[in-house]
Amino acid sequence: MNRQEAENRIVELSKLLEKYNYEYHVLDQPTVPDAEYDRLMQILIELEEQYPELKLQNSPSQRVGGEALEGFEKVEHRIPMLSLSNAFNEEDLKDFDRRIRDRIGENFSYVCELKIDGLAVSLTYENGLFVRGATRGDGTIGEDITNNLKTVRSIPLSLTESVTIEARGEAFMPKYSFEALNEAKRESGEEPFANPRNAAAGSLRQLDPKIAAKRNLDIFLYGIGQLQGNTVASHSDGLDYLKKLGFKTNREWLRCENIDKVIEYIESWVERRPNLPYEIDGIVVKVDSLTHQEELGFTAKSPRWAIAYKFPAEEVVTKLIDIELSVGRTGVVTPTAILEPVTVAGTTVKRASLHNEDLIREKDIKLGDFVVIKKAGDIIPEVINVIEEKRTGIEVEFYMPESCPECASKLERIEGEVALRCLNPKCPAQIREGLIHFVSRNAMNIDGLGEKVITQLFKEELIHDVADLYKLERDRLLQLERMGEKSVDNLLQAIESSKNNSLERLLFGLGIRYVGAKAAKTLAQSFETVDQLMKADKEQLVAIDEIGEKMADSIYRYFEKPEVKELIQELDSLGVNLTYKGSKPDAGAEVDSYFAGKTIVLTGKLEQMSRNDAKAAIEALGGKITGSVSKKTDLVIAGADAGSKLDKAEQLGIEVWSEAQLQDQLN
Ligand code: IVH
Repeated sequence: MNRQEAENRIVELSKLLEKYNYEYHVLDQPTVPDAEYDRLMQILIELEEQYPELKLQNSPSQRVGGEALEGFEKVEHRIPMLSLSNAFNEEDLKDFDRRIRDRIGENFSYVCELKIDGLAVSLTYENGLFVRGATRGDGTIGEDITNNLKTVRSIPLSLTESVTIEARGEAFMPKYSFEALNEAKRESGEEPFANPRNAAAGSLRQLDPKIAAKRNLDIFLYGIGQLQGNTVASHSDGLDYLKKLGFKTNREWLRCENIDKVIEYIESWVERRPNLPYEIDGIVVKVDSLTHQEELGFTAKSPRWAIAYKFPAEEVVTKLIDIELSVGRTGVVTPTAILEPVTVAGTTVKRASLHNEDLIREKDIKLGDFVVIKKAGDIIPEVINVIEEKRTGIEVEFYMPESCPECASKLERIEGEVALRCLNPKCPAQIREGLIHFVSRNAMNIDGLGEKVITQLFKEELIHDVADLYKLERDRLLQLERMGEKSVDNLLQAIESSKNNSLERLLFGLGIRYVGAKAAKTLAQSFETVDQLMKADKEQLVAIDEIGEKMADSIYRYFEKPEVKELIQELDSLGVNLTYKGSKPDAGAEVDSYFAGKTIVLTGKLEQMSRNDAKAAIEALGGKITGSVSKKTDLVIAGADAGSKLDKAEQLGIEVWSEAQLQDQLN
């Protein structure tokens, strides 16, 4: 075979193999025996070895797994990957429905889908070719697991149209693969996975894609993140479109005209659930029309247009052996039940938070009791009640101590709160917990610095405050237990790169009372530097949208403290970035553009660009995009079929532009 013939053959084989692959794994309708597929794959691999330069960028030979990686790169999700709020019963669903009807009226429908129990992934295609796959991570930053995802046979390496799209879905391990994998693990004396979700996540986090390739993972796509050049009007159209592009979508979805139909759908799945070949943990309910979705908008964590109904949790009985006390970052002392280990919803449970003394009294929990436990939302174990009939009389009443279990200062109950608090700011437990918070995912996000390592560093007195993290020395770290050269170097590297974080991560990490991740971002955006923020008085703070009196007061008092001022100065001299690095919706003065400092609402269907691209373009020019029209809105951009938002803009006399006007301005 000459080079030209080899090239033709490689192209032909690649196409054919992907076609067979699609028929088998997406359509579930194989047209050739497995042996034929394997034979052609072997020929392709050999040809590619002979002519490496002819290998196609998206060759099906990558399905068996390429080179192992050293670590995963981080990937930023330009559109955050949010999670869903939960409904646990009919009432929650009806509340959700009422909130929606209050906003958009009666004329809409829902789409119900199975909630697949796996892990969310994002798949990016450029001009129809699969270029990047990532985990959800913290929603903003995930990990690049492209090589592993290429081994998932139901993920197309190229699409039927040459589009640029970011699609989202749930990667999972089917029940039969999970059982086979655990069986093999048990045989070789390894610890089996607790549930299919952990098995799927564990497989996709392997650095060697050959391992992932053997794990029989699968995927269902359920949404579109970004889409260039094309638009869909509804979620259900989106699902059809994904299918048309060659993606695997779940076929069990259903359009429902009202919440009663939704409830019927859910009930039907309570019975059918065990027969599915994969695990589901609930039903996702979404408002279908994208215009309606837009109108409903988002809260900080989740869209208002969707909810996840969770199937009731499994309940089991176990014995309460002890109650342990722990002191949190804010000094709150929390009792934790130590339980005789039991398996609930696939994982072993040994502890459950009891929250506070009032709850212990209310549920009449005594040491030695038999208790019913379940996992709330199938994640966090919770004690539901005591089984009084099982008491023998030797059970012992539990009382909270009067002094802090870590530093022995007197515990106080703050008025209006149920919690007992240690008020000693030097309490070692509070400092340690504060450090753990500082490095955590939504704060400084320092890889390799989890609870264990922080506790170790703290015990060894290598760190006393967050500034000490930036003074750690390689030689000293190498003397610690379980710290090899490689982990020390990785750790120092992760600490070093955290210095470049944008200001909001630091602000959240400092653990200022009432300042969550969202408020931290707002503060960073509004003040841009710590200096400016420290100079702000309460009036300036309260003037910011979303910052209330209580938070403003807490921020002001925090930065007033001399030791905080000192800490900030120290962080500065250690090279930690103290400025905001993200987009600046409010930076009107700096960005010289028409949109700078303006509050803008996008509504209706855009034809020339996707709504997300329009949003990104406007934000890059200093505009702020919001979901609803109010007196504060400066401009409404209305695409085709714009609805109530356009009416409202006209009522309020707000300037309205067409998409063409937007294009002109952007150009
Ligand atoms: S929609 C804006 N649909 O459930 C959120 N999620 O908390 C869009 N999931 O992280 C998610 N099946 O990993 C959606 N049919 C489905 C789903 C689904 C499973 C997962 C997903 C998400 C979590 C929601």
